[in-house]
Amino acid sequence: MSNIDLSVTLAGMTMKNPVVVASGTFGFGREYNQFFDLSELGGICAKGLTLHRREGNPAPRIAETPMGILNSVGLQNPGVDAFIAEELPFLRQFDTRVIANISGNTPEEYGIMCEKLAGAGVDMIEVNISCPNVKAGGLAYGTRPELAAEVTEVAKAHAGSVPVMVKLSPNVTDITQIAKAVEGAGADAVSLINTIRGMRIDVNTRRPVLKMNTGGLSGPAVLPVAVRMVWEVAQAVNIPILGMGGVAKGEDAAQLMLAGASAVAVGTALFADPFTPIKVREGLAAIAEKQGLSNLRELTGGVKPW
Ligand SMILES: Cc1cc2nc3c(=O)[nH]c(=O)nc-3n(C[C@H](O)[C@H](O)[C@H](O)COP(=O)(O)O)c2cc1C
Repeated sequence: MSNIDLSVTLAGMTMKNPVVVASGTFGFGREYNQFFDLSELGGICAKGLTLHRREGNPAPRIAETPMGILNSVGLQNPGVDAFIAEELPFLRQFDTRVIANISGNTPEEYGIMCEKLAGAGVDMIEVNISCPNVKAGGLAYGTRPELAAEVTEVAKAHAGSVPVMVKLSPNVTDITQIAKAVEGAGADAVSLINTIRGMRIDVNTRRPVLKMNTGGLSGPAVLPVAVRMVWEVAQAVNIPILGMGGVAKGEDAAQLMLAGASAVAVGTALFADPFTPIKVREGLAAIAEKQGLSNLRELTGGVKPW
């Protein structure tokens, strides 16, 4: 370990290092705890929760792609109450930040979940707006500034003193419009990017490889999109950013931080190597050391655009 100060702050929440694991790629941590002590992590974004338990979508729901994967898992989870009763006490044993990730069918559902989670004592709530609004004909909240703002307002009103971070969808023409809308509605931070919609077809059967036909692309293939979007959002808002999308090594994380992220999340790369978050943390420290920095916070927003 170097003597670089690795600590960062995200919306008032201090973290021992900037490396978080991305929602949906780490479950509730139990499996990964067999590989390393979860206290090594800056934070854990738990698997996406819904008000009631969900079975998720039919298989196949994961497919490999060049430098990435497509998934249509469909938010399989035990529901918010089971998380609070069974998973949160497990996660709370570790010296790391616990970030609950929520998805709702209606703004009211987001509100109910925020109230339950704030009462249960999570460190932060990440609001996934890449899910369809049942009342708005299935349109994803994350694609319309007014819908994104409405969900943010309801979440804030029910989260008490727990910071609310809104997770932005990259499947939009201008992500800064959504970022500004959620900032205006009171979001304490934004996280980005969620997966990019994609499709793969088996040319012999002529069937889409995923049962849901389309899915979300993640992994190293999306890193340049994530860096570009974090950079755009950093210029558009004043709230902090948790950057993610394709991070597999320290240099990837450093790119997101230079683009404007205060912290970074590792997702898909965990499937190839469960130790990725540790390696990313060490890689960031090595970059800071090489550049003569005393802490990692100096990276945030440090890009020098032409
Ligand atoms: C299998 C899988 C499940 C995911 N589930 C969720 C989820 O429940 N909620 C959410 O906000 N994002 C979810 N994501 C998106 C990731 O948290 C992350 O934003 C995205 O995968 C980009 O990061 P990566 O390229 O490092 O994986 C999921 C991604 C994958 C691959």
